[in-house]
Amino acid sequence: MNDLAHKQLVQMAQRSLAHARAGTIDQTDGVGRVPAANYLDPDRFEREVDRIFRRTPLVLALSAELPAPGCYKALEAAGRPVLIVRGPDGTVRSFFNTCSHRGAQVVAEGTGKARRFSCPYHAWTYDAQGALVGILAPDDFGEVDRACHGLTALPTHERAGLVWVGLRPDLDLDFGGFLAGYDALLERFGFETWHVFGQREVAGPNWKIAYDGYLDLYHLPILHKDTFGPDFPNRPLYTAWGPHQRMDGPNPSHAKLEGTPEADWPEARLLTGVWTIFPHVSIATFETGGRAVLVSQLFPGETVGTSITRQTYLMERAPADDERAGAEQMFELLGHVVREEDYATGLRQQRALATGALDEVLFGRNEGGGQRFHAWVERLLEADDEDLDAAFAAGDPLG
Ligand code: FES
Ligand SMILES: [Fe+2]
Repeated sequence: MNDLAHKQLVQMAQRSLAHARAGTIDQTDGVGRVPAANYLDPDRFEREVDRIFRRTPLVLALSAELPAPGCYKALEAAGRPVLIVRGPDGTVRSFFNTCSHRGAQVVAEGTGKARRFSCPYHAWTYDAQGALVGILAPDDFGEVDRACHGLTALPTHERAGLVWVGLRPDLDLDFGGFLAGYDALLERFGFETWHVFGQREVAGPNWKIAYDGYLDLYHLPILHKDTFGPDFPNRPLYTAWGPHQRMDGPNPSHAKLEGTPEADWPEARLLTGVWTIFPHVSIATFETGGRAVLVSQLFPGETVGTSITRQTYLMERAPADDERAGAEQMFELLGHVVREEDYATGLRQQRALATGALDEVLFGRNEGGGQRFHAWVERLLEADDEDLDAAFAAGDPLG
C-alpha cells in the first residue's frame, strides 16, 4: 500500500471533519471575475484548443477499456484522430490514426481487438507498435523505407487505470511534473480492474462552461433539486495537486472513524467526492449497491459554443443479476442530470452571455475550484512550449 497516499487521504478526512464541526469551509481571498468574452471569443477558443488540449496530456482511455493485449480504441480528440493500442507486451501506445501512405484514417472509431491494422484505402498494414509491416504489391509500388513509415507515435502514459495521451508528438513534457503526485491518490481506486458498465456522449456548451459545473458544489441542491434532491450539501472543500483538484464537502460522518487506527480507515470512505483531472476530466464517486464512478471526459467541439462529453459509468465490479437494474437506473439518471439539467442550463447560459449583457462572470470565495481552474487556463495560454514544464511547476495560482 502507498502509505503516503493513505496518509494524505486521512488528512483530508480530518480536515473535512474539522470543517464540519466548525461549520466552516476554506474560502479564497476574494470573489473572482472572469471576462464573459473568455467563453465566447472564437480566436481565444482556437488558442485554448491549441495551447491546452494539444499540449496537455489528456485522459483518452481507461485501462478497463483496453483490458488485454491487442485491445484498441480509436477516437477523435480535439480534432485529432488517435489510435490507442495495448501491445503484446502489455504496454499501451498511441498514434495518430493516420496512414503513412496518403493519410487515410486507418482504424474506424470505436473499440475492438486486433493483432494488426490494415488501412481501408490500399491495405498498408501496421502492428500494435505502429510499425509498417505490410505494403500492398510492394514491387509495383516501388522502394520505401518501412522503418521510416510507421504510424506517428504520441507520448503515452498509463497510470492509476487511466491512459494519458499527448497530441503533440514533438513535445517532451515532464509528465510527473504535470501530475504533481495526484496519480498516487487516483491509484487508490484501482480502476484498472473496474468494469465498464455503460458509455455515452452528451453534447454541451463551451467546454469551460461545462467544466465549471464539474468543479461546482454550490449549485447542487438548486439546479438538481428534482434529481439529487434539495438537501444535497453544497459547501465544498478543494484540494489541489498542480492543476488537478479534488472536491468534497465537510463530512461529519468521518467522526465514526475516530478512535480506530488511521491505517485502517477504509479508503472507499476516504475517496468520496469529485476528482477532476485538468483540463478535461471529472471522476464523480457514487455508492449505490457497490462502488461506482462516473468518468466524464470533456472535449471542445468544432466551435467555441460546443463541446462533447464522453461519459463512462465504471463499477468496481460487474453488477450481479439483481444489481443490474439499479446500475442501469443510476447510469440513466446521470445522463439525464447532465443533459437536461447541467448542459441545458449551460447552453442557455452560453446564449445569454452572447447577448453581451455581462462583461464578466463571478466565482465566489466558496467557488475556489473554478477560480483555480480559470487561473490555470490563463497560465497555460500564456506559456510558450519551452516554458510549459515551468508553468506546471509554478505552484498554486491562488497562492
Ligand atoms: S492511404 Fe492507407 S494504404 Fe493508402
Ligand atoms: Fe451539476
